Amino acid sequence: MAQEIQATARETGTTLIDVRGLKVHFPIKGGVLNRTVAHVKAVDGVDLFVKRGETLGLVGESGCGKSTTGRAILQLIKPTAGSVKLDGVELTSLDANQTRLKRAEMQMVFQDPYGSLNPRFTIGQTIAEPLENFNRGNKKEIQEQVASLLETVGLNPFFMNRFAHEFSGGQRQRIGIARALALRPSFIVADEPVSALDVSIQAQVLNLLEDLQHNFGLTYLSVAHNLSVVKHISDRVAVMYLGRVAELADSEDLYESPLHPYTQALLSAIPVPDPELELKRKRIILEGDVPSPVNPPPGCNFNPRCWKAQDICREIKPPLEEKSPNHYAACHFPG
Ligand SMILES: Nc1ncnc2c1ncn2[C@@H]1O[C@H](COP(=O)(O)OP(=O)(O)O)[C@@H](O)[C@H]1O
Ligand code: SF4
Ligand SMILES: [Mg+2]
Repeated sequence: MAQEIQATARETGTTLIDVRGLKVHFPIKGGVLNRTVAHVKAVDGVDLFVKRGETLGLVGESGCGKSTTGRAILQLIKPTAGSVKLDGVELTSLDANQTRLKRAEMQMVFQDPYGSLNPRFTIGQTIAEPLENFNRGNKKEIQEQVASLLETVGLNPFFMNRFAHEFSGGQRQRIGIARALALRPSFIVADEPVSALDVSIQAQVLNLLEDLQHNFGLTYLSVAHNLSVVKHISDRVAVMYLGRVAELADSEDLYESPLHPYTQALLSAIPVPDPELELKRKRIILEGDVPSPVNPPPGCNFNPRCWKAQDICREIKPPLEEKSPNHYAACHFPG
């Protein structure tokens, strides 16, 4: 485990979420006896921390384990191993009731605004449900809170008796956000919150999330599969590859001086606006495919595709370490 992360977190005292060695292995059943024959190592030793009030962008290709990481942090999936602390409280050792109570402090905004809302509920009922579950007032008080939440996300409370299918994608995502906010959480995992929306609507929803962050002092883990999207919304960025964090740094630092070969390859694929720089841009073409999370390579999980790989890379997993101030990379030969 990276000692450096621990030091930073302790020194500043500003860490809200602290994740160490997080693993989620899904069993694969097979054979006539339906025994577990292998595991999908969706998350295989994630280290990261999120500071109070910031947005940490979590990026990586589809299937690298971003959603599973988000769900495991919120304890919506039970981690196979590792530690998740919210404001110093270890979440992985809480019982079901304690976890339920903690849930008020941490919420998820889902990728799919169509699938994540109950079609049989009015939107008023959808937003009221968590408030009722947590006894946050009588009927009238809850009604008032629902109206206020709808206004907060830019929707007219007049529509609270309508059903989700009567709203557009962007409006549904606002409803999902209102529901996530209902219990006044401090931490929100936003799992690709705009990727299912029309491009014209995406900026509005991202701006709303940003306003809410300022107004309510929220801390975000914002998942995306595209580096250029997270750049604008993140204070810091964590790059994931095959179930692990490869690099974690301030956004600008990560974009200007990536230390991990995988991040370098990802960034080299993004066109730069300056025509002169664009001409000089060297694209790094990665060979081969992402290996299966059922059978990740030994040592550094990026070694089969890395042009810098040495013997040590095939044998020893590089821990996520602070290579320059506030810049963490999991690589034996960073830079
Ligand atoms: N419930 C599950 N059972 C088995 N495998 C799963 C399950 N959920 C996700 N996976 C697998 O775990 C890996 C990571 O998935 P996911 O966290 O959804 O990645 P991402 O969000 O980065 O696209 C993928 O290989 C996916 O197929
Ligand atoms: S540890 Fe080795 S294989 Fe892994 S990214 Fe660094 S140089 Fe490449
Ligand atoms: Mg996902």
